[in-house]
Amino acid sequence: MRIRDFLPADLLRGNVVFVTGGGSGINLGIARHFAALGANLAICGRTRETLEAAADELRGLGATVVAEVADVRDYDAVAAVLATSEAQLGPVDVVVCGAAGNFLCPVANLSAKGFKTVIEIDLLGSFNAAKAAFEQLKRTRGSLIFISAGQAFLPFPLQAHAGAAKAGVDNLMRNLALEWGALGIRSNSIAPGPIAETEGMRRLAVGKMRELVVQSIPLARLGTVDDIGEAAVFLASPLASFITGTVLLVDGGQTLHGSGLMTGLMMSPKAG
Ligand code: COA
Repeated sequence: MRIRDFLPADLLRGNVVFVTGGGSGINLGIARHFAALGANLAICGRTRETLEAAADELRGLGATVVAEVADVRDYDAVAAVLATSEAQLGPVDVVVCGAAGNFLCPVANLSAKGFKTVIEIDLLGSFNAAKAAFEQLKRTRGSLIFISAGQAFLPFPLQAHAGAAKAGVDNLMRNLALEWGALGIRSNSIAPGPIAETEGMRRLAVGKMRELVVQSIPLARLGTVDDIGEAAVFLASPLASFITGTVLLVDGGQTLHGSGLMTGLMMSPKAG
């Protein structure tokens, strides 16, 4: 059973949800959950074909969909998507700042451009989406959801760039909860653990690492995109109307170990 089996299928009827990076992975999973509860979707990403395939899938769930190519590092491009979305769907109720970039790399091998690239996609990209949506969110008294990670508060090896970016994302999230709370705008983060069938897992858990990652999770399985979609629906829904400024961990308990266990695994020859 999934959360949408318990919620009215029209819970979010007429709501408009904007998901950056919504063409694939966790972000598409989130978009699917909103569509299944009656919302209309705006998604953006860098690849037209990926976006079109995602849009078709979301339309199949009953959503009206705006799908536009935009790189979240480009404020004007993100603002243009939101303008199109407003014209076609109405003002946005929920903004999911999900677009992210990552790779495994020790700081010793990481170029300044590599570090900057991840900061710009994750942190500047989240700022751009939130800021560009502000006037619309003020009108809907809507909500922001940022996609964070355990790296935001734990130093994972080979992840200095992602950790710095996601720590910034969570701090931005809290600032917006403070500054925009009086306008009725809520702001929260979801920190997913390792999620199966995603670009993140393909990039970050290669070879034997996947098996070792599962062993590091107290609930003894990888997460699913549905696990994250359900958390997003919860945070955006009236069920969470008094929740703002929080990071919701959806990681099967992985970060309870701190990062020591993962550090041991990643530095181990077995990680190959
Ligand atoms: N290790 C070290 N440095 C890397 C790297 C890696 N695996 N991949 C990219 N970089 C560096 C590049 O070398 C470059 O720096 P340099 O010119 O000094 O060498 C810099 O990052 C920018 O790379 P580029 O490929 O030009 O950036 P991009 O904007 O086209 O792509 C990335 C952004 C690098 C994050 C790319 O991996 C991407 O598009 N990811 C999107 C999907 C994703 O990462 N999903 C996972 C989410 S968890």
